[in-house]
Amino acid sequence: AVGNIKLANGVLMPEVGLGTWKAHEGGMLAEAVKAAIDLGYRHIDCAQMYDNQPEIGKALKESSVPREDLFIVSKLFENRHRPELVAGALDQILSELQLEYLDLLLVHWPFAIKPEHGYEDPSGAEDLDNVPIMDTWRAMEALADTGKVRAIGVSNFNAAILKKMLPQCRIRPAVNQVEVHPYNPEHELVAYCQRNNIAVTGYCPLGGVRVNVLGDSLIQSIAAAHGCSPAQVLISWQTARGIAAIPKSTNPERLKQNLQSIVLALDEMHAIGQIATRQRKVDPSRNLPELAWVFHEKEAECPLI
Ligand code: A2P
Repeated sequence: AVGNIKLANGVLMPEVGLGTWKAHEGGMLAEAVKAAIDLGYRHIDCAQMYDNQPEIGKALKESSVPREDLFIVSKLFENRHRPELVAGALDQILSELQLEYLDLLLVHWPFAIKPEHGYEDPSGAEDLDNVPIMDTWRAMEALADTGKVRAIGVSNFNAAILKKMLPQCRIRPAVNQVEVHPYNPEHELVAYCQRNNIAVTGYCPLGGVRVNVLGDSLIQSIAAAHGCSPAQVLISWQTARGIAAIPKSTNPERLKQNLQSIVLALDEMHAIGQIATRQRKVDPSRNLPELAWVFHEKEAECPLI
């Protein structure tokens, strides 16, 4: 059975979940969600930005697992950061997913884009919106009081932003969801979050297409030694660090495999943590240099606290 991570408010988050970013591209998403739930997945990671929540909602509706056994996450898109837009965004998410409540709502990114902008990436600085992150966060705190979300958190927030935010929060973020795999291990950010009782969920645990951690020679040799797949090594390395992992797959065999964790030896954990290659899959500053502060802590005089 999949273990749980206890959030600061006592809510339990299953440590392995199903990622759904781009999962609808092959037209297999609803089937994959149903297959995943049948295999024992209880944590489903969604987002407004993935533009596929109605399909997931349909699969959830058809599943026979009681709602209270599921842990459903979604994320506020950057064009809904203005405080007066936050509650409506949650209502839209709930209606797309056909749910009465979410287990966890995250602020997807620490920057805002203009309300009229769609789900595509911002193409220039003129698409950015000046909404202080604490204004958005206070609207998130108000949602936590409504019972429509069991926990609130953030995603892609660096430690410098969190340090500025935490003293101002009435309800602290329960989770920070960030990219985690051996080429982007986030040793310091994870330690900072865990010290502050902010649970970490790692997205892209398998690196996706661009970051070839599945093909890493050390990962492959550890997998061979355990008679398991490289994906199982990557997911187990993450959960052994106390980090939830949300691998995406629409393939039933791989869905099943990704739930079967293995026990890594301490020296294997250490060796994976020492891999020196650094590569991120997701970085919005590639298109928009104005967003360099998002991932570069030293410049992280976040302009919008
Ligand atoms: P597929 O959906 O065909 O299984 P991440 O979640 O890190 O972004 O990685 C997702 C990518 O990894 C997808 O392309 C997915 O393809 C693939 N994938 C998922 N599980 C496995 C696995 N166990 N072994 C190899 N590739 C996998």
